[in-house]
Amino acid sequence: MKTTIANKEIEQAALDVLVVGLPEHPENLERWDSLNDLFGGRLLDWVKEGDVSTDLKAVTKLPAASGTAVKRVLFIGLGPAKKLTDQILLEVFAKAGKELKGRKAENVSIWADSFTTDTLEADDTAFAAIQGMLLGSYQFDDYKTTSNEKDFCFAEIELISTADEDELKAAAEVGRVHAEAVNSARTLVNTPPNILTAVKMAEHAEQLAERYDFELEVLGKEEMEELGMGAILAVNKGSVEEPRLIVLKYAGGNEDWTDVVGLVGKGITYDTGGYSLKPKDGMVGMKGDMGGAAAVFGAMQIIGELRPKKNVIAVIASTDNMVSGDAFKPDDVITSLSGKTIEVLNTDAEGRLVLADAVTYAKQSGADCLIDVATLTGGVIVALGKDKTGALTNDEAFFESFMEASLETGEFVWRLPLTENDKKRLRTSDVADLNNSPGRDGHMIFGGGFVGEFAGDTPWIHLDIAGTSEAGAPHNLGPKGATGVMSRTLATFIERLAEEEPDAE
Ligand code: BES
Ligand code: MN
Ligand code: ZN
Repeated sequence: MKTTIANKEIEQAALDVLVVGLPEHPENLERWDSLNDLFGGRLLDWVKEGDVSTDLKAVTKLPAASGTAVKRVLFIGLGPAKKLTDQILLEVFAKAGKELKGRKAENVSIWADSFTTDTLEADDTAFAAIQGMLLGSYQFDDYKTTSNEKDFCFAEIELISTADEDELKAAAEVGRVHAEAVNSARTLVNTPPNILTAVKMAEHAEQLAERYDFELEVLGKEEMEELGMGAILAVNKGSVEEPRLIVLKYAGGNEDWTDVVGLVGKGITYDTGGYSLKPKDGMVGMKGDMGGAAAVFGAMQIIGELRPKKNVIAVIASTDNMVSGDAFKPDDVITSLSGKTIEVLNTDAEGRLVLADAVTYAKQSGADCLIDVATLTGGVIVALGKDKTGALTNDEAFFESFMEASLETGEFVWRLPLTENDKKRLRTSDVADLNNSPGRDGHMIFGGGFVGEFAGDTPWIHLDIAGTSEAGAPHNLGPKGATGVMSRTLATFIERLAEEEPDAE
């Protein structure tokens, strides 16, 4: 997809569709006359009579604008200008993208200046426009042999604006990078589990490493055995697929590999529950149990493109969780990479096991702070619904600064408590240091809290995306299916940390 910035008058727009933002009372706008002229002076009547709605996200398509070469105009209502935020603007453009999706040859001009308000400037619009259009028009390239909607991407998006071209270009580019990374995370999550195995996940990492010059390390079963990664090996035991521990290192910060941020992702390519088998209805959809890994890969893609001045290590623990004669069982006791022993009470609490070894490995590889991302518990959905990511932390200040990044991207995060009493219950076992399933009451806290046992004193944030990783219906920023949640927030957080660095310009 090509994006261009066109510093020209609206009358010179010449692509297939022109997207125009229309706030309440458009007649009060400075640009009103030129806008109205495009419609033979009749736009106000249409708005008054309700034929063209200015309600937020209302879409009206018209066949043509006079005096331009564009074939169609897509109006999108902006509602009261005062209430527009960059988050709403992103949703507005996602709606426009959704409206235009599926038309391969569609070349879209966006009249960027029609979206700017007193508080939202041209570069905010450029960032939201490209990002929103790409997120909203996302479609998984499925396996239907009859599908005729395969080519969903716009051939070209042109931003028409009188604002400074370089600034717009930079903002549009960042918007493109963010959206494309989210869309690749979505595609990973949507890919069926017989195709996306742990080995395939490692191949994805290999491609990222090549494209962005990351250092890559991939551990297979043998290496895991040598190192003593008993937790991930236990989960993998019943599988015919090899497990993979995937490590990507991006050395954007200081040269001595200190101040390293660790991003750790749960990459369970399929979760049957193991011998603590899921009921048949609860199993469907468990191809998405690698949403945390996808979010980390998405973030690394953004980092690779934008190259913030920060050292980052990504660690993905990937395997499926299957049943077979030699699968791990409830009552098994395993020894994790950290040396801590774990009594397995529930083989369906497998995510925390693979994360335990991944977190330990991240620390051994130099991570000074950790964020783990995982579709970890159904409990987070019970607690917060499907539109909020649940969090835990052991470091207030670290969490506060992460929250600022999440406010910037609009990906909602809410923190739950993790008390000494909760930790005590994790440390209760007749035979081992920890148990992997202390109970169903508040079990989001036990899931994340278990991972926290391995983070120890290292500043740590846990993100449970079991609710937010997939949407059961089309949503504000995309279609039903994988959302790619947290890719943007993780990357934005790293970018913000890099900007705080004393030696950064
Ligand atoms: N992958 C699941 C969690 C999940 C549930 C993700 C729903 C997406 C949607 C996880 O491995 C799991 O099975 N968790 C159990 C934990 C329990 C056994 C303590 C759960 O939440 O029921
Ligand atoms: Mn499970
Ligand atoms: Zn799982």
